[in-house]
Amino acid sequence: MSRLVVENLTKIFTLGFFSRRRIEAVKNVSFEVKEGEIVSLVGESGSGKTTTAKMILRLIHPTGGRIIFEGKDIWKELKDHESIKEFRRKVHAIFQDPFASYNPFYPVERTLWQAVNLLEKKPSNKKEALELIKESLVRVGIDPKDILGKYPHQISGGQKQRIMIARCWILRPLLIVADEPTSMIDASSRGGIIQLLEELREEQGTSIIFITHDLGLAYYVSDNIFVMKDGEIVERGHPDKVVLEPTHEYSKLLVDSIPKLYRKLEGL
Ligand SMILES: Nc1ncnc2c1ncn2[C@@H]1O[C@H](COP(=O)(O)OP(=O)(O)OP(=O)(O)O)[C@@H](O)[C@H]1O
Ligand SMILES: [Mg+2]
Repeated sequence: MSRLVVENLTKIFTLGFFSRRRIEAVKNVSFEVKEGEIVSLVGESGSGKTTTAKMILRLIHPTGGRIIFEGKDIWKELKDHESIKEFRRKVHAIFQDPFASYNPFYPVERTLWQAVNLLEKKPSNKKEALELIKESLVRVGIDPKDILGKYPHQISGGQKQRIMIARCWILRPLLIVADEPTSMIDASSRGGIIQLLEELREEQGTSIIFITHDLGLAYYVSDNIFVMKDGEIVERGHPDKVVLEPTHEYSKLLVDSIPKLYRKLEGL
């Protein structure tokens, strides 16, 4: 069974109260994500990637179409507080801007305490909870004493993204939607973040929707690639197919823009 099925998803934004200007941000997008699968949404700025992600995360309401997660329509069938809370436990977001995910007035580990509080089976006391938090930090390559008690401005972007992944080790979500998780952190931390996502997939069977501008990176991490342009999926399939035999003009352009070094490494 597919973990996530997206069917004819559409989002039309209307600008201004009286204006008739409509922006078709996402048009008839359909795709599936299976258990333990990493799929990438690739496309230029404004192609509708984040809007698609936000609808899947239940942050913005679709204009049309359906999103079925674990067999349930997330907009029609999850109504009560309890089922929405369960959805929040199972589906996680990692955003582009690691700063935006933190409140500047609280120590960074607050986000991990919040994760512990979302757990169905909570640790029996504070000490156990702290142990769990420390374990999750070690899991993502952070020495707890390097960050505990620190405020968001005192740690790096890479550390912030790692802490978002530590949240996933605590909550064990079934699906992670990672929207350009590496684009705002320095190049040397990028590979580490991708590897941590792959470890989650390997060890927990987490499904991941990975959003990126970078087809080269998508080729490297995904089981399936969906290329978006102007709100539509214009090319889809196995990375080898999309990168080696692109059919749409736009995917050909994207393939041409993959830096030469990648090609050499990947033998393309
Ligand atoms: N809240 C909104 N109101 C009106 N238009 C919006 C809104 N959010 C997004 N859009 C428009 O929808 C289109 C798709 O935007 P979206 O943010 O989904 O693109 P994206 O593929 O994530 O781009 P990027 O790579 O720059 O993050 C754009 O034309 C954008 O201007
Ligand atoms: Mg975006």
